[in-house]
Amino acid sequence: MIQIQSANAHRPGLVALEPSDGAPVARLFGRLSNESIHRRFFSPISRPEQFVAAILRVDRRDRVAIAAVENGEIVGVAQYARTQGKSEADLAIVVADGWQKQGLGRRLVASLADRAASHGITAFAVDVQGDNYGVIKLLRRVAPGIHLAFSGGVGEGSFPLTAKEGS
Ligand SMILES: CC(C)(COP(=O)(O)OP(=O)(O)OC[C@H]1O[C@@H](n2cnc3c(N)ncnc32)[C@H](O)[C@@H]1OP(=O)(O)O)[C@@H](O)C(=O)NCCC(=O)NCCS
Repeated sequence: MIQIQSANAHRPGLVALEPSDGAPVARLFGRLSNESIHRRFFSPISRPEQFVAAILRVDRRDRVAIAAVENGEIVGVAQYARTQGKSEADLAIVVADGWQKQGLGRRLVASLADRAASHGITAFAVDVQGDNYGVIKLLRRVAPGIHLAFSGGVGEGSFPLTAKEGS
C-alpha cells in the first residue's frame, strides 16, 4: 500500500505498486488526458477499473510497476512485464499530464531498469506510436543507442540493461 511521502515538494518519491493500490491508481486515471491514455495503451480506455486492472497486474518479480508519488498521489507509473520464459521484458510508462517534461519519465525508467536487472531482466522492449515524440526523446535519453524500427505507424525497439554491482 502506498505510504511514501515526497521528501522534497518538487521531487516525487518512487515506490513499487502492490495489488492493493487500486484507489490511488484509479485517481491517476483522472489525471490523464485521452491522448496520454491512448499513447500508453494504443487504444482508448473509458473506465478507471480497466485502467487499474492493466496497471496492477504485478507480482514483484516478472511484472513490476514503479510509481512516482507526490503527497500520497500517484503522478506516473513505469512498468515491465517479462516475456514468458525469456530474460527480456516489455516496458510501458505514463506520466500525469500536469507532470510531463519535468524529468519524471527518466527517473521512472532508470528506477524500473535497476529493479528489472536485479530480477535477471537483461533488456527492455518497447513499442511506440510513430508520432510520439515525447517517448522517443525519453528513450533516446535513457538508451542513446536504441534503434526503433518503424512499420505501420508503430516503432519497435529494445535496449540492454546492466545489473548494478552486488544486485
Ligand atoms: C512519454 C512520457 C512518459 C515522457 O515522460 P516525461 O516525464 O515527460 O519525460 P521526461 O520529462 O523525463 O523527458 C525526457 C526528455 O524528453 C523530452 N520530452 C518529454 N515529452 C516531450 C514531448 N511531448 N515533446 C518533446 N520532448 C519531450 C523532455 O523535454 C526531456 O528532454 P531533455 O532530456 O532534453 O530535457 C510522457 O509524455 C507520457 O506519459 N506520455 C503519454 C504516455 C506515453 O506516451 N507512453 C509511452 C508509450 S508506452
